Amino acid sequence: MKHSRRTFLEAGLALPAVFGSAPELAAEPPPSAASKDSSFDPWVEIHRENLHHNVAAISRRVSARPILAVIKNNGYGTGVTNIAKLLEPQPEILGFAVVKLHEAHSLRDAGIHKPILLLGPFDEQNLADAVARNILPMVYTALGPALDKIAVKTQKPVPLHICIDTGIGRVGVPYYQAPPLVRDLAGRKSVRIMGTMMTFTEDPDFDKEQLRRFNETCAAFEKDGIALGKKHAASSFSLFEHPDAFFDMVRPGMAVYGIYPENEFRHSGVLDLRPAISLKARVIYVKKLRKGDSAGYDRAYIAKNDVWVATLPVGHGDGWPREAAKGAKVRINGDLYPVIAVVSASHCIVEIGAEEKVKIGDIATSFDAKPGSRPEDVSEACGASVYDLTMHLNPLLPRRIV
Ligand SMILES: Cc1ncc(COP(=O)(O)O)c(C=O)c1O
Repeated sequence: MKHSRRTFLEAGLALPAVFGSAPELAAEPPPSAASKDSSFDPWVEIHRENLHHNVAAISRRVSARPILAVIKNNGYGTGVTNIAKLLEPQPEILGFAVVKLHEAHSLRDAGIHKPILLLGPFDEQNLADAVARNILPMVYTALGPALDKIAVKTQKPVPLHICIDTGIGRVGVPYYQAPPLVRDLAGRKSVRIMGTMMTFTEDPDFDKEQLRRFNETCAAFEKDGIALGKKHAASSFSLFEHPDAFFDMVRPGMAVYGIYPENEFRHSGVLDLRPAISLKARVIYVKKLRKGDSAGYDRAYIAKNDVWVATLPVGHGDGWPREAAKGAKVRINGDLYPVIAVVSASHCIVEIGAEEKVKIGDIATSFDAKPGSRPEDVSEACGASVYDLTMHLNPLLPRRIV
């Protein structure tokens, strides 16, 4: 099959509109402007309809409790401001949670006005700057004096969430040390407790113990008249496993992007999720290997027979994991082809078979929303985590909203 420049350009023009600053594919670049991005370079698509579908499905699952969408790590690969702009108009979304302070500021810079919870670290100056932009800190250490200073300046209490560690051991005040801290914060005029949260370890047995610890700790405060604000604990895993931990609000990330956090949940019937993130590129080279020819560093692949292979300009530097060479398949023109040899930084190779079925310029999909090439399919086939597939997508790749 021969590559036709004409059909390739038409395919490029048929691509959906580009959102934000991502480069556009153009048939003929204007004479003065040199192309900066190759039309062959990989890109990330964000599927608007599927996002909306997932949010509605989560909302039904949690009986219309508000959703605090976790959009940390560049919105799980979608682009933190892209995703916030897409989600903000949805009434089910109460606000957003990020870990990095710069992401919280980027959201405000982009005009996002819904609440933003900062799950990550900050110093006193960061705290003051964040509060000034209506970013809610997650607090679990003795920050009372710093909060007093800020409240004096702003002339209003600082809204915040308290994080209680019930066993994950990462951040949060250990539940057995929570009473003095929570009482101290609750007793200050400078503080407004908007929420109290915990994170499960997602160990089925220990989760039950964590939930018991959280419930008991919170009940003791509430008995003393301490208002804890909205209690929240449920990530995507808990949407499936812990309906008793939906509390006043849920805090999913992966499910919002339409991806099952565990492969076994796909067939549970609990939630119908539709992937909203795809990774695509165009075939850059097609050739026939002769029996005995090799491909990849260390000659990782040796052709058993004459075979057609295609080279894709997507590698681990783009976020396509090295594990993909251990069984992942890529969709080209509707068919799935195995990734062979090794995934190098900027390339991978797929085995096409005895016939030359693909041509230069054809779109190659690493993952999308179609059965067989969903992120969960890639994960099942090669062992890469769906979290790595999305969160490791290179932030510099163009993002296209479709
Ligand atoms: C504190 C916290 N809550 C919620 C989430 C969302 O998790 P998931 O993407 O599994 O829904 C995360 C993500 O790691 C998190 O760190």
